[in-house]
Amino acid sequence: MDFKQEFIKKLRESKKIVFFTGAGISAESGIPTFRGKDGIWNKMNPEELANFDSFLRNPNLVWEWYQHRRNIIHNCQPNAGHFAIAKFEKYFDVTVVTQNIDNLHKRAGSTKIFELHGNIERNFCIECHTFYSIKDEDGNNVPTCKKCGGLVRPDVVWFGEMLPQDQFTGGETAAEWSDICFVVGTSAVVYPAAYIPMGAKRAGAYLVEINIEPTELSGYADYSLFGKSGEILPKILEEVGKGL
Ligand code: OAD
Ligand code: ZN
Repeated sequence: MDFKQEFIKKLRESKKIVFFTGAGISAESGIPTFRGKDGIWNKMNPEELANFDSFLRNPNLVWEWYQHRRNIIHNCQPNAGHFAIAKFEKYFDVTVVTQNIDNLHKRAGSTKIFELHGNIERNFCIECHTFYSIKDEDGNNVPTCKKCGGLVRPDVVWFGEMLPQDQFTGGETAAEWSDICFVVGTSAVVYPAAYIPMGAKRAGAYLVEINIEPTELSGYADYSLFGKSGEILPKILEEVGKGL
């Protein structure tokens, strides 16, 4: 794969790199994305499943849906894209800022990760906020808190909810200080997350998009690479490994 010279030069000069990722990076692991032809939100109504009021109305239904997704995720493995990002740490100061809740960056070996939308492997009590790690074998009925009897929910951000402040600020700051910000496998239409790559560019980072198709961000990116992230990221890593 031939990369443009300007990008190679940027790679050579860069120290801090941010990967801002979305559902597309996990697509090659077999986890469905949200939008597009086979997207989850074409089949499911987010209002029915991903908000707090529906959880209160029908906790078992919402819990069951997340158990279903947990099962899918547990049976999937990180792909070449996740692994390449983890290996970038050999060469750069790398921060991953992800909208994904699937934990695959961590499983692939990345060490500095900000999770903007939570993590499906964690749960917490809606009354006293005690955290629980509940595995898929724990059944399809919503568990209750051992301390106070409150309902336990997945630690993921639902529609209408705030993003975890520390994760957002951490991700935003890393992106603003980055030399290159890669935007990988996201439609970049969900805010406030999508402000992060824009903030990076405004602060002087070189913005590189990797996606199978043009997105809202393409006009804004310094360089767009169209193709699968599991194929493109290892090629960039190979370029880096040649000695920059
Ligand atoms: P989307 O489903 O909106 O977008 C996925 C993007 O990945 C699209 O732009 C695809 O073109 C691209 N894509 C698909 N396969 C790819 C591949 N193999 N390589 C590279 N790109 C690929 O997912 P997100 O942008 O992550 O929020 O969605 C953002 C948020 O919307 C999610 O975090 C979730 C959802 O509602 C919450 O749950 C809070
Ligand atoms: Zn409790």
